[in-house]
Amino acid sequence: MSKSFQSPSGMHDVFGEQYDYFEKIREVFSRMATTYGFEGIEIPIMENAKVFSRGVGEHTDIIEKEMYAFKTKGGDQVALRPEGTAGIVRAYIEHNLYTKSQPIKFFYFAPFFRYERPQAGRYRQFWQFGLETIGKGGPVVDAQIIAVMYNVLRELGIKDLMIEINSMGESKCREDFEKVLKKYLRKESSSLCADCKRRMKKNPLRVLDCKRCIKVKESAPQIVDHICPKCREDFKKVLEYLEELKIPYDLNSFLVRGLDYYTNTVYEFFAPGEEGRLALGGGGRYDGLAKLLGGEETPATGAAMGVERTVLLMKNDGIKVEKEKPKIFIAQLSDLAKRKCLKLFEEFREAKIPVSESFGQDSLKGQMSKANKMKVDYTLIIGEEEAAEDRVIVRDMESGQQESLSTKEVVKEIKKKLK
Ligand code: HAM
Repeated sequence: MSKSFQSPSGMHDVFGEQYDYFEKIREVFSRMATTYGFEGIEIPIMENAKVFSRGVGEHTDIIEKEMYAFKTKGGDQVALRPEGTAGIVRAYIEHNLYTKSQPIKFFYFAPFFRYERPQAGRYRQFWQFGLETIGKGGPVVDAQIIAVMYNVLRELGIKDLMIEINSMGESKCREDFEKVLKKYLRKESSSLCADCKRRMKKNPLRVLDCKRCIKVKESAPQIVDHICPKCREDFKKVLEYLEELKIPYDLNSFLVRGLDYYTNTVYEFFAPGEEGRLALGGGGRYDGLAKLLGGEETPATGAAMGVERTVLLMKNDGIKVEKEKPKIFIAQLSDLAKRKCLKLFEEFREAKIPVSESFGQDSLKGQMSKANKMKVDYTLIIGEEEAAEDRVIVRDMESGQQESLSTKEVVKEIKKKLK
């Protein structure tokens, strides 16, 4: 077949084994999130572009370089969502969710879009599983969100997790610190890379995240030394809660995250990958975001993990996902048999016995080879003769023994055998 088209660069079809990993993560995550009182949310994949530029921050890489923004035929300036938090806060304000009992707790498993240079673990369409608690916040909520994500990753079988954590203080602390940092960076400007020279003016905190300006960072002032006593006390509490829950963490005073809406606690989850460590996800508090989007100052906190990166790690660690295996295969030989088999398939499904078939295939050899590959316990064969007599041949796939049963009793009999 001629391959005239391919999926867009950095965007992938998810099927087969990759799909099974996605489903496993979705299942563990949504079960865990529901246990902790989170409810699911789906929001549109596009928003008014301002939701992101105001929320995530005009001078972040996500907005400046990576956003898929365009004008619709109707003239609206929209953008494909690069992340989930800003859109969910937009929904919180739009639907007056602040009038309901607080906090509102949402979970999501969804695709996002960033125009990045595609490489292993970095795509232009990628998936995240995330949590947002809006309307009530504070250290205990921060710790609980970290705990849910930690428990999800552990239940998926990921062991060597590292959590790096920092506090950026509330908006006022952050603004004050930015002044101190700017002063320091001006002094050191000749040693900064070209990107950081630009960042220094508009978003000095991002310099602390730069992989090239290590030397300048080493003697830079640290945020935690400049936050107010209340913010310091809050941060101490988060750490105490994590210790209570026996969740290991490392303090990283340079951790600032790539989105501007964060206040106070911020953190990132890492795990050892094939080429150095892999950033699995991150989050933090964002008490100022609702106000940036036209609402009122609202306590909020959340986190999101990358699905593809979680899959990558599971595969590297040799973690397999088991799909429910069919126990029965139904094989047919003739048109009348097909009709009987279709009905029989429904009876097994209703009896909740995992069943499989290959009705589009006519050769018995082909069907038996499929049943063998699936490693089913029994294959049920209906040929022309059996179809006419309402009987079915039951083949025990391990011993090779066969018996003939009436179609009326076969489900009941198989149930007994499987016990
Ligand atoms: P983020 O750190 O930008 O945070 O993204 C979270 C995770 O999404 C990353 O650690 C990574 O695993 C995955 N990710 C991001 N970009 C890509 C990409 N291009 N390809 C593959 N995976 C990627 C946020 O998005 C925040 N909204 C998290 C949050 C929720 N904060 C509060 N609530």
